[in-house]
Amino acid sequence: MPNSGAHLVPMWREVLGLSKVKPDETVAVLTGPNSNPIYIEAATNAALDLGAKVFRLDMPPVRGAGGMGSDPTAYLGVTALTGNQAAVEAMKRADLVIDLMLLLFSPEQHEILKSGTRMLLAVEPPDVLGRILPSLDDKRRVKAAEARLKRARTMHATSDAGTDLRMELGEYPVLIEYGFADEPGRWDHWPSGFLATWPNEGTANGTVVLDRGDIIFPFKTYVKTPIRLTIRDGYIRKIDGGFDADYLREYMAGFQDPEGFAISHLGWGLQHKAKWTALEMYDKSQAIGMDGRAFYGNFLFSTGPNTEGGGSRNTPCHMDIPMRHCSVSLDGEPMTIRGDVIPEDQRVEQSKVMV
Ligand SMILES: [Fe+2]
Repeated sequence: MPNSGAHLVPMWREVLGLSKVKPDETVAVLTGPNSNPIYIEAATNAALDLGAKVFRLDMPPVRGAGGMGSDPTAYLGVTALTGNQAAVEAMKRADLVIDLMLLLFSPEQHEILKSGTRMLLAVEPPDVLGRILPSLDDKRRVKAAEARLKRARTMHATSDAGTDLRMELGEYPVLIEYGFADEPGRWDHWPSGFLATWPNEGTANGTVVLDRGDIIFPFKTYVKTPIRLTIRDGYIRKIDGGFDADYLREYMAGFQDPEGFAISHLGWGLQHKAKWTALEMYDKSQAIGMDGRAFYGNFLFSTGPNTEGGGSRNTPCHMDIPMRHCSVSLDGEPMTIRGDVIPEDQRVEQSKVMV
């Protein structure tokens, strides 16, 4: 159910409170041509209520960015801040940037975060923000999984549909999202609730079968006919199947960049409040699909850039593909079984079993 501006202020106060906004901190509200006016007002009022100093930085549209359609995640790399150092410096001076524009991962965002500024992105429709209001328990769950993923040296994903993908881990950091930005230099996204890392270069090998009901972003569609991805040495080498496979292959090839076929971040969803079914319920131009990316027990497969993890692969073609009913294990220890998360207190590490 839609939330009005009156509902939004308390929600923003709660999330900014979780983000540890304190009296006399400076909060920057970053806006662009598509920013929701009621979010600007609600976020500003909530930050003021918490005693913060607030300023707003409004960016013009980006000219010449590539890609098709309205989804802002469909073409990465160029942002409204590209080459605009004055705007970057203004945000580095803030303690928290509330991103209502969707800056996305970019060298400018890295620079802002490196200065210690916290950043919180929020662009989903009001009822999504309300339904997936973050909590300290969300953070606890994601942090517990992070501790395990940081130690992992291998990941293995399987499914009854035919997925059997293996990779080595350890070259790249672990990315966690729990919905609020409470530590210096931390970026987060309201709503969210998942974790991921990137495979060691060239080590992802096997098969991924996207099955009926898996979600492909930025298409924002459910897969209707299975797609078989053959993955060798870190790249998708073949895409087989029916119409859905043809469409995916043609779309990715359209970027004319072989790096777009690289395997990118991989992880699993930990957000109970996110719904696999949400995708059909929202206008494509209004939502970016955090329900799909975060729903509990998904295997979030992705392709393209690894700049977000500190790598140098900076391709504009990025696909996020949340899959259902997969089993994900780390060093032989199950994290999910057929789409059900194994809570941390019920996990048994392979090494302990063998002792
Ligand atoms: Fe992604």
